[in-house]
Amino acid sequence: MNEPRTAIYPGSFDPLTLGHEDIARRSLKFVDRLVVAVAHHPTQQKDRLFSAEDRVAIIRECFAAEPRIEVDEFSGLLVDYCRARKARIVIRGLRAVSDFEYEFQMALMNRELWPELEMVFMTPGLEHTFLSASLIREIASLGGDVSEFVSPPVLRRLEETFPD
Ligand code: PNS
Repeated sequence: MNEPRTAIYPGSFDPLTLGHEDIARRSLKFVDRLVVAVAHHPTQQKDRLFSAEDRVAIIRECFAAEPRIEVDEFSGLLVDYCRARKARIVIRGLRAVSDFEYEFQMALMNRELWPELEMVFMTPGLEHTFLSASLIREIASLGGDVSEFVSPPVLRRLEETFPD
């Protein structure tokens, strides 16, 4: 029997948005198993909202009904994590041209570091293309309603973090 095809979906996921969820679920059309990998120290450091442990717990709750999705965390190089997990496919979401430059650079550099790795870029559904974790953080911290943009486990944690 062939080895199950495993892909890594790395990111900050701070917090996980419906756009991330959409990409993860779409990828199951062509991979057998997806590992959503929360980066401890993302390359572009952003203002952090939740700890990596909290993000893992939240994401696990969001994908609780999906047995083919595993949630893990990693630190260090993405290519080293992929090698350790024996996964040669990395999934990244591309929303707009503005994402492209950074993603393109990262893809080529990752390939330099481990030539066997393939990065697969996916577009979320149109209704999710304007979503970003940083906007969700900002809106939630300023008391705005983000219930349309995140799953209930994320919403609950945001409401606990930013009570009215
Ligand atoms: O959701 P993000 O913040 O855009 O995800 C970025 C992430 C985590 C994929 C990127 O920062 C990363 O791969 N970090 C691990 C460190 C690493 O491998 N850096 C070299 C990249 S070429």
